[in-house]
Amino acid sequence: MARKLIAGNWKMNEPRHGAAALAGALAERARAAGPLGWDPLVCPPATLLGAVGAALQGSAVALGGQDCHPAQSGAHTGDVSAEMLADAGCRYVIVGHSERRANHGESDAQVRAKAAAARRAGLIAIVCLGESEAERDSGETLAVVERQLAGSLPPGADAANTVVAYAPIWAIGTGRTPTIQQVAEVHAHLRRRLGAAGEGTRLLYGGSVKPSNAAEILALDNVDGALVGGASLDPDDFWAICRSLFQSSL
Ligand code: PGA
Repeated sequence: MARKLIAGNWKMNEPRHGAAALAGALAERARAAGPLGWDPLVCPPATLLGAVGAALQGSAVALGGQDCHPAQSGAHTGDVSAEMLADAGCRYVIVGHSERRANHGESDAQVRAKAAAARRAGLIAIVCLGESEAERDSGETLAVVERQLAGSLPPGADAANTVVAYAPIWAIGTGRTPTIQQVAEVHAHLRRRLGAAGEGTRLLYGGSVKPSNAAEILALDNVDGALVGGASLDPDDFWAICRSLFQSSL
């Protein structure tokens, strides 16, 4: 069975001292828990990778970026390459988050190029997808996520280099979540669509995950972890979400 992944996406939050304190608090909890049978990850803003990486040193908490440019280097003002993230100590990078798709007009093809760049740099890409509220209401959810999955995964994507995160847009930062049946339905569909080539690929759920709903979501078949936004900024909440994975072994 795939190791579960609990990924914290800090988005554009935290000053440097707050980030180091947050990372330090998580590292301490991870060290105290001993060997983990699952993977904790934090994805801070690019400017904080050094400070957060230093605070995580010697702990099982991995470091990730929130986005990368498809190219390795060059004239791309304001961008960061996957190689630069790897050089900064990252093991993962989020690509295709709906905030990037919406705010930066990223298409599936661009997301696929970024996921391919992550692979080239030896990073694990966390490829995000999910429907809008209008798409959910008109019954298009499965068709939308299927199209995004087919368009956003590069050739050669497999369990070792790719994680898929289902994060319905209307559930992000809203406190609203799909029903357990809706999450189960989408994840089962994605699992089928991944097919044999994607066997073992971890499927995360993202969107208003918090300590009070994590256990129920994480207990579902085909949910291999969570992508956590707001609640990842509080070490107690983030760790409580992690604990709900394996109450008995933490
Ligand atoms: P949220 O964000 O936990 O704040 O809803 C989740 C996400 O961005 O995937």
